[in-house]
Amino acid sequence: MTVRACVLAGVGAWLPPDLVTNADLADRLDTSDDWIRRRTGIRQRHVASIGVAASDLAVKAGSRALRSAEVSQVDAVVLTTSTPDRPLPATAPVVAARLGLGTVPAFDVSAVCSGFLYGLFVASGIVAAGNVDRVLLVATEVYSSIVDPLDRSTAVIFGDGAAAVVLRAGTAGEHGALGPIMLGADGESGDLIQIPAGGSRQRTPKAPGDGYFQMAGNEVFRHAVLRMSEVSRQALAAAGWQSADVERLVAHQANARIIGALGDELGLSPDRVLSNIETAGNTGSASIPLLLAQAAADGRLTTGQRVLLTAFGGGLAWGAATLTWPGVVALHPSEHPE
Ligand code: UT7
Repeated sequence: MTVRACVLAGVGAWLPPDLVTNADLADRLDTSDDWIRRRTGIRQRHVASIGVAASDLAVKAGSRALRSAEVSQVDAVVLTTSTPDRPLPATAPVVAARLGLGTVPAFDVSAVCSGFLYGLFVASGIVAAGNVDRVLLVATEVYSSIVDPLDRSTAVIFGDGAAAVVLRAGTAGEHGALGPIMLGADGESGDLIQIPAGGSRQRTPKAPGDGYFQMAGNEVFRHAVLRMSEVSRQALAAAGWQSADVERLVAHQANARIIGALGDELGLSPDRVLSNIETAGNTGSASIPLLLAQAAADGRLTTGQRVLLTAFGGGLAWGAATLTWPGVVALHPSEHPE
């Protein structure tokens, strides 16, 4: 008997062309290229121009993913972001309409930097359950709209970008089939990453930074390594894989030191640990599919490789999943031929 599964069938990503280098940040903040490189591994990040919204990046990435999957229609659109175009409505319907996808169901999933794994859980669940046959999952972030430009502890980390995957119904065992997706969350520590004001709890800022993204970086760092290694082991066990089976680790690009520590925890040699944080920074929920698209484009990911995905971020929320790379074709995210 063949078992219905959810299969990754296309990937695409888009990075806005404007760059902010470490030298640009050192011109206006008490920081240095040396500190940023040593403590985060970041050299530059892409930023959207003022007026460019999450849906604008999402449409570019979504259209590339549809082209990569060689399809023009899907049955649903799931979108993940921490920077929606507006507090309401959701950003997904706007993206679906602009991609010419008609009136398919379209909704947002909110899980900060773990958004792609949470989105994958929802999207693959509705495919595997037989509710739909094909889903576009888009992760899009304009962190430059929520990061305090004067806060050196966050302004140096985040970048803007979007990436998307097409998921389709298939069978377990074929290239691209997703293994079990393991998730977790801990609201007790939810204050470690937050925007305090602007919601129903605190409608307006009481202090100057309250309307901006805030993070207790040092504490978050420790939680990130611990939670991603735990949940990765759970996902590997659920898939029946050992660490030694993992040929590519694609972790949320939070900090090069976090990614390195995670690789060490899981016993993965550095050649198996993919990264693009040096050139793209931390792009929130977009970082995993962005790295998948980039690695597929530049040959670091090839057909049949066993891949482990894992993320951690605000919520706190975390997740991990496995898949065998399907060998889809993707454009490099900073290539803009159109
Ligand atoms: O994506 C969601 C999940 N996010 C993460 O997982 C991020 C986790 N956290 C981190 O990546 C790191 O904690 C940061 C990059 C945010 C900070 O690096 P750190 O090595 O943990 O620095 P720290 O917060 O322990 O601060 C060390 C020192 C402090 O100075 P003092 O008190 O020792 O004098 C900071 O004020 O570094 C200072 N500092 C900076 N110095 C120069 C903090 N940011 C900067 C900066 N430039 N940009």
